[in-house]
Amino acid sequence: MAKINENYLKLKAGYLFPEISKRVKLFTESNPGKKVIRLGIGDVTLPLPPSIVNAMKLASEEMGTSSGFKGYGPEQGYSFLIEEIIKNDYKPLGVSLSQDEIFVSDGSKCDTGNIQEIFSIDSKIAVTDPVYPVYVDTNVMAGRTGESTLDGRYSGLVYLPCTKENGFQPDFPKEKVDLIYLCYPNNPTGTTITKSRLKEWVEYAKKNNSIILYDAAYEAFISDPNVPRSIFEIEGAKEVAMEFRSFSKTAGFTGTRCAFIVIPKELNGITSNGDKVSINQLWNRRHTTKFNGVSYPIQKAAAACYSDSGKKEVRDNILYYMENAKIIREGISKNGYEVYGGVNAPYIWLKTPKSMTSWDFFDQLLNKIQVVGTPGSGFGPSGEGYFRLSAFGKREDVIEAVSKIGSLSF
Ligand code: MLT
Repeated sequence: MAKINENYLKLKAGYLFPEISKRVKLFTESNPGKKVIRLGIGDVTLPLPPSIVNAMKLASEEMGTSSGFKGYGPEQGYSFLIEEIIKNDYKPLGVSLSQDEIFVSDGSKCDTGNIQEIFSIDSKIAVTDPVYPVYVDTNVMAGRTGESTLDGRYSGLVYLPCTKENGFQPDFPKEKVDLIYLCYPNNPTGTTITKSRLKEWVEYAKKNNSIILYDAAYEAFISDPNVPRSIFEIEGAKEVAMEFRSFSKTAGFTGTRCAFIVIPKELNGITSNGDKVSINQLWNRRHTTKFNGVSYPIQKAAAACYSDSGKKEVRDNILYYMENAKIIREGISKNGYEVYGGVNAPYIWLKTPKSMTSWDFFDQLLNKIQVVGTPGSGFGPSGEGYFRLSAFGKREDVIEAVSKIGSLSF
């Protein structure tokens, strides 16, 4: 029999979101007809904006003509999309990029999960805790960790706790690390980072020869002009960071799939012989070998997000979700909950009442009021005692969930 990759056996349970779906399915099977409100996984609920649908339709029709048909496209993405990304997402921030510093893909989950492949198996990894589970699980699968320990950590990984005590701002690693995953606006806590703190991270990375893997998937939800939208707003960041962005939450592409990574040419890694290697070239090699590009209609749809009408429609959807976030934040804090996030991010992070564990609170909400959220402990040991609510639900569901949570007493 073929031997398996035993690193997979180290993974604690199922991936967090399928685990939640499993529990909800069990509940609905034994309680048929009961309406369940889902504010767990951060999945969008508004339909795709009309300009985007129209661009997708036109591109599909073009593909049905002999003059417009396209086979394989450039693996890195079509230049019509990359140009729009540079012009609209980075130029206004004073960040100049060349086309070959952008790699279009089918999602930030894949990108943040796959990126570790181009780094040495010996790399020391730091993650904030709580954290988007993909960063951790993919490093476990690759064999960069030992077994999980009793407190829910994997040995070999460096955890940087983010709790209310430190204002959800992680301390710098106490030991030297090679790769640092940072996500701002943060999933799951919904908190943000200041420019001055981000500058300190860039300085830290320079001093320690580390690379920052900066996940900015929720950048579009920032409304405070002082909150940085990109790590490249920080001088010198191009030498120590790459950035992940996505159309998923920004423009409702969770089911449509389009994202990109920015890997500046200045970013280098090193071989065991001490030779410098361009991370951009290494990723290009990996990307062109394992990926054949996002489909033409989807890239046309993504480019339509930057048209005048597309921008407005995308903006309106973001405002809708951020109004949901406000309703949740204000509604539940009125009921005595300690609430964080939800101002520049579509996630609300709350402290469970009476020091209940995250999964106990999940079960109470599901069984008593049929509201589904995400247990904080699913994002890491420092998430224990916290709970995440997503603002991506339908308005009427959000209002109903807030009122039901308010009716609960513990
Ligand atoms: C989340 O709920 O954390 C996200 O939707 C997961 C993802 O983007 O993969």
